Amino acid sequence: MSDTNRKIIIAVDGFSSCGKSTFAKAIAARLGYIFIDTGAMYRAVTLYALENGAIVSGIVDEEAVCRLLDRIAITFRFNPARGASDIYVNGDLVEGKIRTIEVSNCVSRVSAIPAVRKKLVAMQQEMGRRRGVVMDGRDIGTVVFPDAELKLFMTADPKVRAQRRYDELTAKGQQVTLEEIECNVRARDEADMSRTISPLRQADDAVVLDNSRMTVDEQMEWFMKLFAERTKNE
Ligand code: DC
Repeated sequence: MSDTNRKIIIAVDGFSSCGKSTFAKAIAARLGYIFIDTGAMYRAVTLYALENGAIVSGIVDEEAVCRLLDRIAITFRFNPARGASDIYVNGDLVEGKIRTIEVSNCVSRVSAIPAVRKKLVAMQQEMGRRRGVVMDGRDIGTVVFPDAELKLFMTADPKVRAQRRYDELTAKGQQVTLEEIECNVRARDEADMSRTISPLRQADDAVVLDNSRMTVDEQMEWFMKLFAERTKNE
């Protein structure tokens, strides 16, 4: 007999700043699934490295980052006000500190360190062991859960992405220019796609969502049709 309540894994990969987290969070809330933002985990390691002398003047000392790894315990706690989990490092809430331009400028280099990926991928696999998760990142459908039942690959025009991130950061009072944000977006696309370990790429069985001109509601409508089709025979 088929089990219509069987929970699946939904992998949401794609370029930076194209609204993956917002969308993945909305899907999770709609389906009653757990949302996991894996980019936040790479950012948390980067923040810790910045605060503990493993990144100085923008230079990432890979060996120093690796030495710090055993001292970093990442946990998530659900925050009802946000409708999502906040990220903690060694018990300290770091949610508000991981999205600065300083962290953004170094995170691609930190996320390309094999030992960092090994540790975080193992944690992510453990978090999704019981299914019922929407996980967003760069390598979820290709490396973390190659057997995910539903894979999305999100993309949007780099100019649209830069404008969105600019609006988000300036609304929080950060002093940034649109040019530096666009530069960071393009540099991270390049770094994410060209790194040797787990580069960003579309899984063969992923469905592409270009949301350059779509609202979150339109994306949700599109997704729910896809979800219904994919789970109708479960
Ligand atoms: O999604 P984000 O922009 O917050 O991710 C931050 C960085 O972490 C991004 O530049 C690439 C990296 N990342 C990764 O390499 N693998 C993941 N699964 C998630 C993020």
